[in-house]
Amino acid sequence: MGRKFFVGGNWKCNGTTEEVKKIVTTLNEAEVPSEDVVEVVVSPPFVFIPVVKSLLRPDFQIAAQNCWFRKGGAFTGEISAEMLVNLGVPWVILGHSERRQLLSESSEFVGEKVTYALSLGLKVIACVGETLEERESGCTMEVVAVQTKAIAERISDWSNVVIAYEPVWAIGTGKVATPAQAQEVHAGLRKWLHDKVSAEVAASTRIIYGGSVNGANCKELAGQPDVDGFLVGGASLKPEFIDIIKSATVKKN
Ligand code: 13P
Repeated sequence: MGRKFFVGGNWKCNGTTEEVKKIVTTLNEAEVPSEDVVEVVVSPPFVFIPVVKSLLRPDFQIAAQNCWFRKGGAFTGEISAEMLVNLGVPWVILGHSERRQLLSESSEFVGEKVTYALSLGLKVIACVGETLEERESGCTMEVVAVQTKAIAERISDWSNVVIAYEPVWAIGTGKVATPAQAQEVHAGLRKWLHDKVSAEVAASTRIIYGGSVNGANCKELAGQPDVDGFLVGGASLKPEFIDIIKSATVKKN
């Protein structure tokens, strides 16, 4: 199957120039498994992308945290996919639950963004996930399937897509999904891809977990067969992000 382990660090709306430089120094000095074993992508706020890009080790990549859903133009405050391409930013995170919830981004809008970003050659970390209320009412799979469908019905090539399953109740709460909970949804998403897209896409698309991942819980989560890596928030700003990157070696044993 050959799904390379993927660890993303979503810095969200955090940092000063000094803090960002410090994080990059820590990353640059770290000894981590080789690029053959793990793909590492960090996602600074837009304004810090140039400084991070100029300092970051070449084996780590950069993701933007969002982009506009069409060609740029008269859209005050937005950043276009064209600009990311122009800056040499290879990845973009789209559909994060913080944007779905706080900025009312619909699944269709996210699907449009994913489609446009892919059409320009960007690689996409597409986020899906249920709220606590949705989980408690037993419709987790339905929610993530609807979110994934809005992407699936617009694209045909999945080779540049990573799906991030991020249960909203686990984000920034310290309440990480249990390995069994994560595995169940990841396996469900893979089955959905198998049934609705293709067996090949299901086997090759990486599905990563996000929500209160830290240096202590990452290994057990990484050991789950359908967990292909992580999208890390809070802990990606700290040295323990290195431990999370190292959890990639769990897959080799
Ligand atoms: P935390 O790791 O802080 O829970 O955030 C997860 C997340 O939203 C990553 O995109």
